[in-house]
Amino acid sequence: MSIGSAVLRILLWAAIVLGCALFFVQVVGRIIRHLVHFPAPAFVAGFIDNRWRRRLQPPAKIIDWIAIAPGMRVLEIGPGAGLFTIEAARRVTEAGGVFAFDIQPSLVAKLHARLRNEGVTNVRAVAASAYEIPYPDSSFDRVFMIAVLAEIPDRRRALIEIKRVLRSDGLLAIGELLPDPDYPLPRTVRRWCADAGFVPVDSHGGILHYLLTFRPEPESRSEP
Ligand SMILES: C[S@@+](CC[C@H](N)C(=O)[O-])C[C@H]1O[C@@H](n2cnc3c(N)ncnc32)[C@H](O)[C@@H]1O
Repeated sequence: MSIGSAVLRILLWAAIVLGCALFFVQVVGRIIRHLVHFPAPAFVAGFIDNRWRRRLQPPAKIIDWIAIAPGMRVLEIGPGAGLFTIEAARRVTEAGGVFAFDIQPSLVAKLHARLRNEGVTNVRAVAASAYEIPYPDSSFDRVFMIAVLAEIPDRRRALIEIKRVLRSDGLLAIGELLPDPDYPLPRTVRRWCADAGFVPVDSHGGILHYLLTFRPEPESRSEP
């Protein structure tokens, strides 16, 4: 066998092994996630903040789609390592603010360290649950969460709580990414949101990753 064909054979086997490993992780991961609900382990948040992800799901593009502008008050749920937090903070400028919370205190500590390292001063990050958002009614112009909603066991409860803190003219943005074992189809997210009283506004992206935006259904609710 020539060296060329040996190299080709090794590459082919490597590709087959890698493909099988990915398939196994996806299938087993989805079965486990379907049976047991728990937040993605803290190490995963660091692991998924990498250059491949930035290429696939560029933070600047996501923040454009959410239409975040200077002066806005923006809430991010489940920021993990802060991949999208920093870009959101740049967009709101010092005239606005980003408020982020994650259920895992260790991730909030990591995010604080990152914000300090990058000199970002307009983000307030705390540990909290989406079931009890630590802010008053109608506090935010935007609420967003990327690769988070499907991880929350009682999504309706979380979405109703989000509706409470979102201004009636505000936007909820939900992003998802196919390699995430929790990835729900866009129509599933639309159904969850409709059940909690949100109406669809826009849809961006494709099958590999997408972002959907919603407004709260108009209802009689007083705003400060
Ligand atoms: C897959 S990670 C995504 C992190 C980040 N948004 C990203 O896209 O890189 C999901 C994050 O949601 C957080 N999370 C899960 N359930 C939550 C809840 N009920 N309330 C707040 N955060 C939650 C997890 O701790 C984790 O940081």
